[in-house]
Amino acid sequence: METTIISGTQLAKQIRKEVRAEVSVLAESGKRLPKLAVVLVGEDPASQVYVRNKNNACEKVGLLHETIVLPGDTSMDQLLDVIDGLNKDEAVDGILVQMPLPNGLNEEIVKQAVRVDKDVDGFHVENAGKVSLGKFDEAFVPCTPMGVVELLKRNGIEIAGKHVVIVGRSNLVGKPEALLMLSEDATVTVCHSKTPDLSAMTKQADILISAVGRKHTIHADMIKEGCVVVDVGINRTENGICGDVDFDECLGKASAMTPVPGGVGPMTIAMLLKNTMKAYRLHEKL
Ligand code: GUN
Repeated sequence: METTIISGTQLAKQIRKEVRAEVSVLAESGKRLPKLAVVLVGEDPASQVYVRNKNNACEKVGLLHETIVLPGDTSMDQLLDVIDGLNKDEAVDGILVQMPLPNGLNEEIVKQAVRVDKDVDGFHVENAGKVSLGKFDEAFVPCTPMGVVELLKRNGIEIAGKHVVIVGRSNLVGKPEALLMLSEDATVTVCHSKTPDLSAMTKQADILISAVGRKHTIHADMIKEGCVVVDVGINRTENGICGDVDFDECLGKASAMTPVPGGVGPMTIAMLLKNTMKAYRLHEKL
């Protein structure tokens, strides 16, 4: 079977074009422009790359952006003060605190400190609650799971009625992805590290989404012929970045697959731009 490679890079470019058009209209009419503030604590190299990519994306579409870099030994009080300042700043629409935080900083407290209407990551309990109730219009939906839905839909892959099997149950991806897929009328199975026979589950998938963070978790003998495989994993190896899926093995058996890099990753950033626009519209009552 010929496997279609689903390019997140291409679709993200298209979405950036759409956002850029929206921002241009605002700029031409002399309106305040949307702004994203990114907080980076410490010097984790992967986080530095992610933050740079997010800034570049803002730059490309004309969104205002500010990155606040804090030293690795920043205290909770200092970090919460910075977030408080951004919460109160009327020029700032979206706030993203890059995770993971250095040891000693409490990520849960930080996530809940970001004002709910600026929480473009969708980490705040109020946003998570709205997502769980299917109130997507009123919520900020986490960027990666939303990016996966967009990637499938805009590539003409039907979700309704399909059996979607998700591997991974994180609050960041697996859980919200399951809720989004349910709302798209999929039948959803969520697998995790305690699932006794992972292969028996993944073989049932019409759409398989792997969000584990371990390379070569998904092999060709674990998927059904014609399955759509979405790889959310970003794993660093000595040969560069790879996903959770053994891509070469699954080629020819899957009907469609997302590559790593160039699949879900660029879509996450595109969705961050969309969420920042949503925050702006909320603040400007548009
Ligand atoms: N670290 C890895 N993914 C993410 C994300 O989506 N948002 C934030 N804030 N940090 C991350």
